[in-house]
Amino acid sequence: MSMFELDERMADLVMAYCRERLALDPVPLDYPGVKAELDAALDGLLAPGGQDVERVLSVFAEKLAPAVISCDSPRFLSFIPAAPTKAALLFDMVVSCSSLQGTSWLEAAGAVSAENQVIRLIADLAGLPPGAGGVFVSGGSAANLSALVVARDMSHRRGVGAARPKVAVSDQAHASVSKALHVAGMDALVVPTGGNRLTGEALRRAVAGQEDQLAAVVATAGTTNAGIVDDLEAVGSYARELGAWFHVDGAYGGAAVFSDRVRPRYRGLRHADSFVVDPHKWLFAPFDCAALVYRDPGKAKAVHTQDAGYLDVLHTDAPEEWNPSDYAYHLTRRARGLPLWFSLAVHGTDAYRDAIDAALDLAVTATELIGRRPYLELLREPELSVVLFRRTGWSADDYHKWSMQLLVDQVGFVTPTVWLGETVARFCFLHPNTTSEMVGDILDSMGP
Ligand SMILES: Cc1ncc(COP(=O)(O)O)c(C=O)c1O
Repeated sequence: MSMFELDERMADLVMAYCRERLALDPVPLDYPGVKAELDAALDGLLAPGGQDVERVLSVFAEKLAPAVISCDSPRFLSFIPAAPTKAALLFDMVVSCSSLQGTSWLEAAGAVSAENQVIRLIADLAGLPPGAGGVFVSGGSAANLSALVVARDMSHRRGVGAARPKVAVSDQAHASVSKALHVAGMDALVVPTGGNRLTGEALRRAVAGQEDQLAAVVATAGTTNAGIVDDLEAVGSYARELGAWFHVDGAYGGAAVFSDRVRPRYRGLRHADSFVVDPHKWLFAPFDCAALVYRDPGKAKAVHTQDAGYLDVLHTDAPEEWNPSDYAYHLTRRARGLPLWFSLAVHGTDAYRDAIDAALDLAVTATELIGRRPYLELLREPELSVVLFRRTGWSADDYHKWSMQLLVDQVGFVTPTVWLGETVARFCFLHPNTTSEMVGDILDSMGP
């Protein structure tokens, strides 16, 4: 049978696997893999002749998949987890099997319209003007880079003459921001943050005397390590005063604009020239999906549009033309905003608000559970869904051993972090199915 014809048996086997995976409740955590075992399982599979589909699928299901820690398990509380809705996962399959791309209006108007409906919703919640628009890219790192390249070019137009313009960032900004500056040929002007929150005053002090070299200010709406939302109002209005580009990295915490309870803290987003939120984090979309929204998308278009004879056909004067490829450093792109669009449409935005509020509530419950255990100490009140705490008397080595044992026992995946120079424990809650019992079990495992 030709590989371009549908093999019904293969389809049944793969669909059955997908159905089973979608129905897992709870999703097991699974383990990191052992290289020698993985190599042995893969040995000889890629050969001039094909293998039986059942054999290949069983290598995946029995050897490879269990060696991937499931970031959609409700016990995955490390880094930033994932919690895609079933609707979003199902529609991701539609996007894949329809080869749905979202590169240009000419090729993909239907997909682009739906993606833009979601970008519009996010822009409205962020308080950005009606002209705002953007694109879904692969992740927060790609979004930060794409936005900061626009900021750099706009600073040149504004007359910032420095060969390497500066970008004010807090010492808590995500690692991808400094990588983006490196790629874009700019230098970080690191603003020390006393309480780990970037404030207008600290920014003003740090920038003093270097205003003419400043291309942009980056604020974080939900720091990765502690979930702190910078003072977006003060920082944004100062950036405006200077004429510098104001970029807000909400890759993790930006999703909380869906929550009526915390949205007031995001008021300063209205000053943003660009704003990033990763639906593959706290907006319950599958990987890989980050929304990048510009106040004035025309500026991004002037920087990112790729020109070539074979692409001229994409660029017309038609007012409805919207080419997602023009708003980031990419050309061909998967219509990766569609799983979120579908899930939002079938569940409604209230369900998103409630799911985000559930994680905020669980963070508060976790602080109470920590408070009831004399061997634990809360390090700061959570602002979003990250909780930092210490086990008294533990060394860094103790945290690492405990973290590994938790995984071996399949109780949870919680990795230590470094906070103010000290190794401590950190939870990041996103999954609505994470229960206070699961959290209690993890805390008990740190007991005397
Ligand atoms: C605040 C922040 N910005 C950017 C990123 C990078 O996002 P991605 O991993 O999707 O590239 C993260 C990832 O955790 C983040 O928390």
